[in-house]
Amino acid sequence: MIKEINKIAVIGSGTMGSGIALVFAQVKIEVVLVDVEQKYLDDGIERIKKFLNKSIEKGKITQQESNEVLKRVMLSTNLEEATKDVQLVIEAIIENEEAKKDLFKELDSVCSDEVIFASNTSALSISSLADATNRPSKFLGMHFFNPPQLMKLVEIIKGEKTSELVIDNIVALCARLGKTAVPSNEAPGFIVNRLLWSFLNEAYKLFENGVSDKKFIDTAIKLGLNHPMGPFELSDYIGLDVMLEIGKYLEEQLGTSYKPAKILSKLVDEGKLGKKTKEGFYIYGK
Ligand SMILES: NC(=O)c1ccc[n+]([C@@H]2O[C@H](COP(=O)([O-])OP(=O)(O)OC[C@H]3O[C@@H](n4cnc5c(N)ncnc54)[C@H](O)[C@@H]3O)[C@@H](O)[C@H]2O)c1
Repeated sequence: MIKEINKIAVIGSGTMGSGIALVFAQVKIEVVLVDVEQKYLDDGIERIKKFLNKSIEKGKITQQESNEVLKRVMLSTNLEEATKDVQLVIEAIIENEEAKKDLFKELDSVCSDEVIFASNTSALSISSLADATNRPSKFLGMHFFNPPQLMKLVEIIKGEKTSELVIDNIVALCARLGKTAVPSNEAPGFIVNRLLWSFLNEAYKLFENGVSDKKFIDTAIKLGLNHPMGPFELSDYIGLDVMLEIGKYLEEQLGTSYKPAKILSKLVDEGKLGKKTKEGFYIYGK
């Protein structure tokens, strides 16, 4: 029997973690947001406040509702304290398999046996991450999209040993969050990122090979396919480091046709990671 979810911990207070925390707090679920240093937590809560203030300006929520949402988000740098009394932990730290496994090992030692573990990984194997714990039946992928507070989809990834009951429970939770859950068996990149990577990486190659300029490629895709953002705009928005990690993982798992274009590695080496560093394929109001 799985307990009703009324308190969760989100580990990693970056782009995704702060947005995921907001999504839960908005539906009256308490959240403890965790990061390695207070400054990352401060950045995370600032992002949440900024979004709530915009929602007030647009008349979507009141100041009081915003205050109540904020009261439900607690901050912590202590994993053990943060995971006391939670029924679910969602991991949203950097896309690095070893870092995630180390974290899940530690979580496994401090959380009680009933706690469900979910990873927001963009592409990594859920079964492999689950094997770092003693609870693979209570381990799944919960893949939110950016920004979590606006995007309706959550891919629900079943690992080899994830129980059906846990999947059903989390699918129901997604409905409570106002999201649509799409279940998928484990495969590198799942559904969306497998297709997205091929599309974006081809765009990088078109640019790199001088077929057309990035601005023209973005315009062509927006007008020709009715996409809200072109491939370079979208990559900057997601983060070029995140895209590179996805590409490297897919290449390793599926072969050299998935190899990341050189231009992407070059920009990441230069620290140009997209909007979050104010420069990626494009420059943003420095
Ligand atoms: N950015 C996207 O568009 C997107 C979309 C879907 C899924 N994801 C996935 O979500 C995850 C997070 O991505 P992001 O873009 O939010 O990254 P980010 O770099 O913005 O944030 C990661 C945060 O994790 C913290 N962190 C690192 N190691 C930690 C640890 N051991 N304990 C606690 N905190 C730790 C960092 O300090 C940082 O604040 C990744 O797995 C990524 O692949 C990203």
